[in-house]
Amino acid sequence: MSGFILAIDQGTTSTRSIVFDSDYRICGVGQQEFPQHFPASGWVEHDGEDIWRTALETIRFALAGAKIAASDLAGIGITNQRETTLIWDRASGQLIHRAIVWQDRRTADVCERLKAEGAEALVTERTGLLLDPYFSATKIAWLLDNVPGARLRAEAGELAFGTVDSYLLWRLTGGAVHATDATNASRTLLYDIARGEWDEDLLRLFRVPRALLPDVRDCAADFGSTDPAILGTAVPIAGIAGDQHAATLGQACFGPGMMKATYGTGCFALLNTGTERVASRNRLLTTIAYRLDGKTSYALEGSIFVAGSAIQWLRDGLGIIQRADQSGGMADAADPEQQLYLVPAFTGLGAPWWDAHARGALYGLTRSSGPNEIVKAALESVCFQTRDLLDAMRRDWASAGDTVLRVDGGMVASDWTMQRLADILDAPVDRPVVLETTALGAAWLAGRQRGVWPDEAGFAAGWRREHRFLPAMTSDERERKLAGWHDAVRRTLTA
Ligand code: G3P
Repeated sequence: MSGFILAIDQGTTSTRSIVFDSDYRICGVGQQEFPQHFPASGWVEHDGEDIWRTALETIRFALAGAKIAASDLAGIGITNQRETTLIWDRASGQLIHRAIVWQDRRTADVCERLKAEGAEALVTERTGLLLDPYFSATKIAWLLDNVPGARLRAEAGELAFGTVDSYLLWRLTGGAVHATDATNASRTLLYDIARGEWDEDLLRLFRVPRALLPDVRDCAADFGSTDPAILGTAVPIAGIAGDQHAATLGQACFGPGMMKATYGTGCFALLNTGTERVASRNRLLTTIAYRLDGKTSYALEGSIFVAGSAIQWLRDGLGIIQRADQSGGMADAADPEQQLYLVPAFTGLGAPWWDAHARGALYGLTRSSGPNEIVKAALESVCFQTRDLLDAMRRDWASAGDTVLRVDGGMVASDWTMQRLADILDAPVDRPVVLETTALGAAWLAGRQRGVWPDEAGFAAGWRREHRFLPAMTSDERERKLAGWHDAVRRTLTA
């Protein structure tokens, strides 16, 4: 059988499809951005049809780039923006509303009410998550309560809920398969991550009818085949994982203690804790890293909402850079005597602070502060936030001690930022040869399931580092900077 695998990476701002050959080499790529909808302050929606259309177009583009036909594919893996919520009619396939995106805060008041009623302890115990609008459950309830007739139709089994993976799977299989994988299920607030099943108490708490929910499978599993009417042939869909989980796999972080951070719009750091489900005392998330052959590996996750989007803000908001790749040079040219701190709480602060009401602030401005100093403060803010996550992980789990951070995502192209990250973390930072780790992880799942790619050990042996950044900053300077950062965060928090 041919070793070509297609990964569909459906992200928050764009959809990508990538064809890998049997040596994990990229031989075809399709990428398309799609519109973001902001119908009210703090609301973010995607049109499900845009998600489907861009998936299909990028698949065709990637196949053409690789000069292969769909019939040359051994399998397809899907990876996706997590938590984003879609509901559709099982008979007609029509979506009942636009997708509510993970960033959407419209259900903040519901979460606060449930918290005030003391529900968070149960939610955290079962799901490893917190009561925050970030996750799917309150978004599902919002749709059922606000789309006329939806709740009754859901109770009658006429509607289906899915995260983006599940929706794409349903469309690709021509409506034959309504399923998801354990990682995506673990982000809904409805899935018991210890027992590996939908939780009746949580379904009641969030008022979600069970009839809406997809079947939950391992990350590498038989998810059916594409409808021949779509790609001209039936291709097995054999892997699914949420994007941060796929990146963990793509970075070959299979061993307990291994950690990756992906710097996209936001930054998501996952620390593999193996079979141990570490309960965080520092407001990190406990999540399913991946589930293979029925065996669950867990992770501690720190989620930062603003990383690469701080650079976009420098470019599109402030207009002080034209291209992201200018930022490292400008930071290098900044006056080292100035102590500027940017707290990029543009949409609140994520882990470990979880302050939805905080807003961004810049501290330490003087008459001679200019674009270079602001750019440097933005890049450093990403490093400081990562350090806060690592410290919280170390407090939660002693084995997190001497971890090396494997990094990926757009921002890691900047040598300046990666060196500063190693300096602030006081830990080595490894940048891999293949930076498309999210797509690679999804492809590996499908390749493993189809028996054309090796198991964990074989895949890990092929993982290659392009560069290791070692800490070079004096501890005095690091401590001084961290103290300044924490003072800035304290002044920004609302509670
Ligand atoms: O939890 C949200 C995350 O999965 C989104 O990732 O890369 O699409 O911004 P990304």
